[in-house]
Amino acid sequence: MRDRVEAALEDLRPYIRGHGGDVELVSVKDGVVTVRLTGACVGCPAASATLRDGVEAYLFDRVPEVREVRAVGAAEPAPGPATADLRREHREALDVLRALDEAAAALPASGPIPAAIGAAIDRAADFLATALPLHFRREDDVLFPALDLPRESGPLAQMAYEHDVLAALCGRDFPAARAALAGPAGGAPEKIRAFRRVVSDLGFVLREHIAKEDHVLFPLADRQLPPDVASELAAKMLSIREARWPSA
Ligand SMILES: [Fe+2]
Ligand SMILES: [Fe+2]
Repeated sequence: MRDRVEAALEDLRPYIRGHGGDVELVSVKDGVVTVRLTGACVGCPAASATLRDGVEAYLFDRVPEVREVRAVGAAEPAPGPATADLRREHREALDVLRALDEAAAALPASGPIPAAIGAAIDRAADFLATALPLHFRREDDVLFPALDLPRESGPLAQMAYEHDVLAALCGRDFPAARAALAGPAGGAPEKIRAFRRVVSDLGFVLREHIAKEDHVLFPLADRQLPPDVASELAAKMLSIREARWPSA
């Protein structure tokens, strides 16, 4: 059966290569075929799903014993120097979001904010006000302009737009909701609900944003940038030491 699957994939390969991708057989077991899809559309879930469906339909037709086709993504290139620090900062941001979610969930429905929860919120607020705008500046001012991609459309325009949305959430909405929580009517149920809502919005947008950069934009940057240019960019990013949100 493996030989027939391999032969069918071989026939399909010119078509997939014509679209800038490739397919490689990983395993055949109990009617389940696992393939690795590589190429131009790696990291784009929609394209991978379409390609997987196409491969599956073709294999069902050619090898009737096939029950299911599973696709694994291509191994992403090892992080290059231009993105290594940014990826590390993403992990930090995800840790902060997790702590913030826990703090928001632990808030009482009304009444005074317990000191430990207040302290956890303060730590997260500090990261959102200082480290995050710095991170965005490294991307906006150093990494993005170095890529061979248009700025006005496509992924870079989308990332810049999301930075603006996040700047408004982190620089305006979150501080306002946090201040309301600490104010005289801070324990009111609607203030606590409003704070939770901002934390939830912020977490949703920032997590999605980080996933797109980690799995689409950064692998592309690592492939595109020659090592000497990437190292130069990394040094330039490190030299940016201070950033604030544009005053709202
Ligand atoms: Fe970003
Ligand atoms: Fe980022």
